[in-house]
Amino acid sequence: MEMRQNRGLCLIFFFFIFLFVVSCVNAEDPYRFFTWNVTYGDIYPLGVKQQGILINGQFPGPKIDSVTNDNLIISVFNSLDEPFLLSWNGLQHRRNSWQDGVYGTNCPIPPGQNFTYVLQVKDQIGSFFYYPSLAFHKAAGGFGGITILSRPGIPVPFPPPAGDYTILAGDWFKKNHTDLKAILDGGNTLPAPDGILINGRGWNGYTFTVNQGSTYRFRISNVGLATSFNFRIQGHKMQLVEVEGSHTLQNTYSSLDVHLGQSYSVLVTADQPAQDYYIVVSSRFTDPVITSTAILHYSNSAGSVSGAPPGGPTTEIDWSLNQARSVRWNLTASGPRPNPQGSYHYGMINTTRTIRVANSAPVINGKQRYAVNSVSFIPADTPLKIADYFKISGVFNLGSIPDNPNGGGGYLQTSVMAADFRAFIEIVFENSENTVQSWHVDGYAFFVVGMDGGQWSSNSRLSYNLRDTVARSTVQVYPMSWTAIYVALDNVGMWNIRSEDWARQYLGQQFYLRVYSPANSWRDEYPIPKNALLCGRAAGRKTRPL
Ligand SMILES: *[C@@H]1O[C@H](CO)[C@@H](O)[C@H](O)[C@H]1NC(C)=O
Ligand SMILES: *[C@@H]1O[C@H](CO)[C@@H](O)[C@H](O)[C@H]1NC(C)=O
Ligand SMILES: *[C@@H]1O[C@H](CO)[C@@H](O)[C@H](O)[C@H]1NC(C)=O
Ligand SMILES: *[C@@H]1O[C@H](CO)[C@@H](O)[C@H](O)[C@H]1NC(C)=O
Ligand SMILES: *[C@@H]1O[C@H](CO)[C@@H](O)[C@H](O)[C@H]1NC(C)=O
Repeated sequence: MEMRQNRGLCLIFFFFIFLFVVSCVNAEDPYRFFTWNVTYGDIYPLGVKQQGILINGQFPGPKIDSVTNDNLIISVFNSLDEPFLLSWNGLQHRRNSWQDGVYGTNCPIPPGQNFTYVLQVKDQIGSFFYYPSLAFHKAAGGFGGITILSRPGIPVPFPPPAGDYTILAGDWFKKNHTDLKAILDGGNTLPAPDGILINGRGWNGYTFTVNQGSTYRFRISNVGLATSFNFRIQGHKMQLVEVEGSHTLQNTYSSLDVHLGQSYSVLVTADQPAQDYYIVVSSRFTDPVITSTAILHYSNSAGSVSGAPPGGPTTEIDWSLNQARSVRWNLTASGPRPNPQGSYHYGMINTTRTIRVANSAPVINGKQRYAVNSVSFIPADTPLKIADYFKISGVFNLGSIPDNPNGGGGYLQTSVMAADFRAFIEIVFENSENTVQSWHVDGYAFFVVGMDGGQWSSNSRLSYNLRDTVARSTVQVYPMSWTAIYVALDNVGMWNIRSEDWARQYLGQQFYLRVYSPANSWRDEYPIPKNALLCGRAAGRKTRPL
């Protein structure tokens, strides 16, 4: 018995050595190995039994703790009865959109099978999360936190906190993901959410313990499907330190708006009388407002939470817009590299192209859809990246989405926009609807140069912040407003640009940006991974020899 266990361990050991040797793309950087089993399991987040998507039995899934440049080897075993993929919100996958894990880049992992992601968190720091990208799986869980710490010796602009806590919060539905998906497939809009979860738990369901006098880092992500939220801690101030990989000016806030898909880090000092306090997450711009709470527990607490949870800001947009504008880059602080963030003068680079992106909610063939410049995205029968690699024609066409809104109705299309490697471009998100939008760009951090009410025009550029805005990967667009970003297209690949409102994303408010280099060189893009799953019209092809 003893012997057999040892032999098993030895085999596992040699398997890892083997992996290490075969995938030595970045041998100088450390490797971290994860083996994840994705299953259905019973969860009771709002008091009723639901079938959740668990990772190694956990909801939310295990947190990934990493350091800049780490290689992450994540073996995902799909024990669900449907195809599955994980994607990584905010990870840039430099030269490697093969690992992005959305349907435009990867074949789904079939039920009962496994796939190993080989990622590198190259030149990144900060707070992110992973999530299931297919079907409507995100409504059932399957998400978890990702933290990337600075390498030893790279200055961090605040003292090491006494603890580092991840808060994954978001709206939650009692209907399961297949029922929600059926509602959308039927051409209808989602019902209102039933509640808000904080780390998978409902009201007062989760406790964070702190020592009086110490300072803690809280990394807050909105992993919900439909709702912006406001975050606050009773009796405590929050010092903002990081937004999706940018070190910020350390402004103090008493509450913070977090839109769909966004991540913020704050420092909180336990400087109040020793008792328990409410941590509050409440929906923004909704009627009614839904609220949930967790507990900030002092280890020497003399009593449980008391009073009502503190209220949030009212529904007005201006407060939120002003707060968004106050989030700035600390120009002298280091990011992932030792040089100051401000040594990259994004405001001095001329843009060579402007893409205007307008969201809309057309009814197409009698069904509710969502669109970008009138095009409502539909998936192809083969992942776009893979079709591109094998030069399989007829899967998508470049130029299948225009660079500007044309005011037309809506039509269905597998929309892919072409872009040149190393171009420096401006994207303007224009929202003429009366709901807040949240846009995410895979593969990049972009500079949020402007945000305002009304219609964008070239004169709007006069108000851009060309000095110290943050670089991030998810940005909100307020109702009847616009948001402008600058992006350096320095990462070759097939990249998803999508609404983080999950019904909108699912029903077509997304497209792909194909950033292309004619060089066909490993310096620009890694070759297709040896273990890439092949499906659709690529089924049966060969990746490359082992
Ligand atoms: C995953 O979990 C299920 C349920 O516990 C189990 O039956 C299965 O063997 C596990 N698979 C792996 C690869 O660990
Ligand atoms: C699936 O897991 C096995 C080990 O259990 C491994 O040999 C194989 O390479 C994995 N498949 C993929 C596609 O990663
Ligand atoms: C979702 O709930 C419906 C009943 O409302 C049930 O028929 C279906 O099997 C459930 N799906 C999952 C994946 O639990
Ligand atoms: C900016 O970062 C520097 C470290 O480079 C730090 O000393 C300073 O306090 C930070 N400034 C603000 C306003 O957060
Ligand atoms: C940007 O464009 C202006 C004029 O259009 C030109 O004078 C300037 O040199 C350009 N800057 C760079 C860095 O190319």
